[in-house]
Amino acid sequence: MKISIIGCGYVGAVTGACFAELGNEVCFIDVDVLKIKEIESHRSPIFEPGLDSLLEENAPRISTSTSIREGIIGSDCSFICVGTPSNEDGSIDLTYIKSAAEEIGNALRTMENHTVVVKSTVVPGTTDNVIIPLLEKNSLKCVERGFHVAMNPEFLKEGSALNDFFHPDRIIMGVMDDPGNKVLEELYRSFSCQKLCTSIKIAEMIKYVSNAFLATKISFSNEIGNICKKLDIDVYEVMKGVGLDQRIGPKFLNAGAGFGGSCFPKDVSALIALAEKYGESPILLKSAIEINEKQPGRLVELLRSRVGELKNKRITILGLAFKDNTDDIRDSRAIPVIKELLVQGADIAAYDPMACGAMKKIFPSITYCRSAAEALNEADGCLVMTEWPEFAELHHEFDRMRKKIIIEGRRILSCEGYEGICW
Ligand code: UDX
Repeated sequence: MKISIIGCGYVGAVTGACFAELGNEVCFIDVDVLKIKEIESHRSPIFEPGLDSLLEENAPRISTSTSIREGIIGSDCSFICVGTPSNEDGSIDLTYIKSAAEEIGNALRTMENHTVVVKSTVVPGTTDNVIIPLLEKNSLKCVERGFHVAMNPEFLKEGSALNDFFHPDRIIMGVMDDPGNKVLEELYRSFSCQKLCTSIKIAEMIKYVSNAFLATKISFSNEIGNICKKLDIDVYEVMKGVGLDQRIGPKFLNAGAGFGGSCFPKDVSALIALAEKYGESPILLKSAIEINEKQPGRLVELLRSRVGELKNKRITILGLAFKDNTDDIRDSRAIPVIKELLVQGADIAAYDPMACGAMKKIFPSITYCRSAAEALNEADGCLVMTEWPEFAELHHEFDRMRKKIIIEGRRILSCEGYEGICW
């Protein structure tokens, strides 16, 4: 099949490369010339393990364009993968979605039997009430007759996105009652997982509820962790036992500094804003965000209670990325921690295997080190903020500290007995 990918960020780059791997022809479209140049050089515009080689191996089936009109002509379907960031009030910002829908609509004037698939995370009702009207207005055609529309949410985790694409737990296909719309069935024919056909609105909601539930699971674990710490109980042992219940499951029960990333904070906030727009008060979702926002402050308070006043104390931050195996610092829990440490006058030395460059754009004044050992030199205290596997190998490096006060925001160090935010 001929596919066009509109938006070559985390979702678009992975989706396009994986569809190319499955034998489809893929045209990557983005207004960002740098992203397009990266793809033309068979390099991924984002860090994702395995993505460079996938783009390299499938180069014969890959083309690029900076123009939607030019890029989607001749394709059977186009995937909208543009970003849906948050507005100041937490509600979803549809600027890029609207612009893409308008441009696709214009191109549809000269195209027949094309399917537009929404893969971006959009709040329920967006495809029906925003995207389809813009497609119809700009194409001068009616949906289901002049073109088709579907909604196919992604469940890709950064750092394991290729595996998540090829081995999903399920595929959600949001379609209209449109007998002509077979594109998703065709594209995912080779997948053996469960495939759920739903309405478009339900498909949009499944994405938000999945992320909101996972985020709530994490905040629940953090609240239990905060209680367990006071009771001198190991929350990880508790959650190991709790997670054996098949109704609960063992994943996303790791207590720590809280959730970051480009999705959980954004998606839960957007769902809260949508609920409130319809007169609902989502207490549980708001609590999940509130617990998450308080964890970093608890970490700094715990450090201060062990180190004393933080003014002019040298504090090491190990880990800056929002999780391991990525250079992405969006909503990283290290950001509020660094902010508060600077407010309290600490002298920060940070190390992260991949994310120093990104964090330097936000906090240019702190010291960035090339190794954990360097960052630990003469430190009065250390916070571990990202679950990088290499941190589990650290031992004698901690002897470089002036005072060996180490507090984990993520349970990753292999030596027993280190204190953590929830343990
Ligand atoms: C998430 C969803 O998992 C994915 O399905 C969706 O498509 C996009 O958002 P991602 O944000 O890439 O994926 O990473 P994820 O592995 O979910 O971790 C998110 C955050 O939660 C990280 O900061 C991580 O450290 C934290 N986390 C995760 C916990 O604090 N505890 C856990 O048990 C799991």
